[in-house]
Amino acid sequence: MGIALKELRRVLTIAQITDLHITNASQAKDRDRNAARLHAVLKSIHAMKPRPAAILATGDLVDLGQSDEYEELKLAMAVCDIPIFYGIGNHDGRPNFRAALPTTPVDENGFIQYAFMLGDLRVVMCDTLEGKDDGGFCETRAAWLERTLAEAPGTPTLLALHHPPIASGIPWMDEAADAPWKMRLANVIRGQQQIKGIICGHVHRAFSGVFAGHLVQASPATSIQLTLDLSPIDLRVPDHRELLTEQPPGFALLVWDKGELVMHSCMAGDFPAAVTYETSFI
Ligand SMILES: [Fe+2]
Repeated sequence: MGIALKELRRVLTIAQITDLHITNASQAKDRDRNAARLHAVLKSIHAMKPRPAAILATGDLVDLGQSDEYEELKLAMAVCDIPIFYGIGNHDGRPNFRAALPTTPVDENGFIQYAFMLGDLRVVMCDTLEGKDDGGFCETRAAWLERTLAEAPGTPTLLALHHPPIASGIPWMDEAADAPWKMRLANVIRGQQQIKGIICGHVHRAFSGVFAGHLVQASPATSIQLTLDLSPIDLRVPDHRELLTEQPPGFALLVWDKGELVMHSCMAGDFPAAVTYETSFI
């Protein structure tokens, strides 16, 4: 009974991919590996039932921010027949991103942030690119987000950004909890009841937590993953620890159903079935 009824339900599903790190011939090994891993993710997403209504790509689309990498990205994404909405990460280059993906909206100041509807769910993509690694969210971007949220205070909203405003616990990767950009973001979104969840990437691992009263989920990367090593680190003294791992590529699947948002972290690839449905449950 349960399976038949579940199949008949109509829900909105959205895939999130992040940290693609598509690159060029200057990094041939990374280029081939990251392209293959992205391909595996896209294959898994397209095989899902129901097929996701959209793909949100939350930054680090390329590795060096260079224009020919964006051409590689477009080639890799050309296999998609699901609408894709792009956001920017710290490995992207804003001018080259905008030149390569000119249909991606920008705000009045040229930041890659925009709002759109997927069914009755509003998605707000934010731009947290500031420098080489850490996140940023200046007063200008915060003011845009404040205005954008105020345009539709009664519409369920999903916030998407590259940098997680919560810590992963992996010391070499985390920013201070009181980083100014996080404080600015918190001031804008705290108490905004229309926000049903926040998705992000950057750490190349799946983890979740609460920020300013909202659930945050970070998606694994389509490229390589971060090793879950929580031990202290001296950033001046290399200790030969593993930093990144070739664990399988991943993505997130967001399920929006009757006003409830559920966020799954998924592993891409072809795996054999462990159990199949052969006998009726009734
Ligand atoms: Fe990344």
